[in-house]
Amino acid sequence: MSDVAVIGLGRMGSALAKALVTSGKSVTVWNRSQGKAEALERIGALKAETPAAAIASSSTLIVCLSDYAATSILLDEARVTDLLQGKTLIQLTSGTPKQARHLEQWVECRGGMYLDGAISAWPDQIGGPEASIVIAGRESVLNSAEPILKLLAPNLSYVGTDTGRAKILFNAALSYFAAHWIGFSHGAAMYAAEGMDVAEFGEAIAGLSPMFAGDVRHMGQAITGNRFSDPQSTIKSVGVDISRLVEIASDLNISAAFPEFAASLFKNAAEAGYGAEEHCAIFKVIRTR
Ligand SMILES: NC(=O)c1ccc[n+]([C@@H]2O[C@H](COP(=O)([O-])OP(=O)(O)OC[C@H]3O[C@@H](n4cnc5c(N)ncnc54)[C@H](OP(=O)(O)O)[C@@H]3O)[C@@H](O)[C@H]2O)c1
Repeated sequence: MSDVAVIGLGRMGSALAKALVTSGKSVTVWNRSQGKAEALERIGALKAETPAAAIASSSTLIVCLSDYAATSILLDEARVTDLLQGKTLIQLTSGTPKQARHLEQWVECRGGMYLDGAISAWPDQIGGPEASIVIAGRESVLNSAEPILKLLAPNLSYVGTDTGRAKILFNAALSYFAAHWIGFSHGAAMYAAEGMDVAEFGEAIAGLSPMFAGDVRHMGQAITGNRFSDPQSTIKSVGVDISRLVEIASDLNISAAFPEFAASLFKNAAEAGYGAEEHCAIFKVIRTR
C-alpha cells in the first residue's frame, strides 16, 4: 500500500504528487491521459493503470481534477462501491459548496471518509511556505490526514465540519481576484492606448498594495457591523468617478464593458438610497438578487 494516492495529474495534481514524493512519501498516481505520470515515476511515484487501482492502492486519496463532474465520472467508472470502505477521500478540486456537500454524502454512503479543500497557491508554491489550503470536514478525519496535507501546504486552515465552507471561502476569494484581474487589465488597456508602459502601471499599483490590506479589513468590519454612515468616500462620488471611465474608454477606443458594469452597480446603489454611504455599501444591492 502507498501512503497516498493522487488522482489527476494536471498542473496542480502533478505539483501535489511531486511535493509528496519529495517529502519521502510513497505515492501512487493516476491520470486519464497518458504521459503525465512519467515525470513523477522518474522521481519515485508508482503509476496506477486505472482509477480503481489508484483507489485500491492507499487509504488516503487526493483528488485534483478539473471539476466535480469529472470526479463523479471517474468515481462512477471506477465502480468504487466497495473500494472506498474505511478510506479518506480528500477532494482538492474546485467546485461549489453544494457539490462538496453532495460528494461527502456520496463517499460516506460507501463507507468512506471525506475532506473538502480549497487550494490557495500556484502549483510552483505547493509544498513551500506560501502555500495555503483551507479544509472542511470532520475533525477526526482531518487529524489523521493533517500530516499529509501539511506537506502540501504548511498553512492549513480548518473551517469546520460543514464541507461547503472551504468552497465558499475559495469562491469568495475568486470573486475578489476576478475584479482585481479585470480592473488591472482595464487600467493596462488605458495605459497601452496612451502608449504608456504597462509594467510601470503594475509597479504603481504594487506601491499601493499595503493600503489594500487595510481597506479589505475595514470593508469586512463595516459590512459585518452594518456601519456605512461615516464615509471617507461615498457611493455617489465613487459612482461619478467610475462613470467617467466609460467616457475615457470611448475616448481611447477601448472596451467599456467593465466600467459600464461597475457604473451600473453604483447607480443602482445610489438609486436605492445609499448614495451618501461609503463605497462598500454596494454590498447591500449585491446581497439580494
Ligand atoms: N493551477 C492552479 O493554479 C490552481 C490553483 C488553485 C486551485 N486549482 C484547482 O485545481 C484543480 C486542477 O487544476 P489544474 O490547474 O491541475 O487543471 P488542469 O491542468 O487543467 O488539469 C485538469 C485535470 O483534470 C483531469 N480531468 C478532466 N476531466 C476529466 C475526466 N472526465 N476524467 C478524468 N480526468 C479528468 C485532467 O486529465 P487529462 O490530463 O487527461 O486532461 C487533468 O488531470 C482545479 O479544480 C483548479 O481550480 C488550480
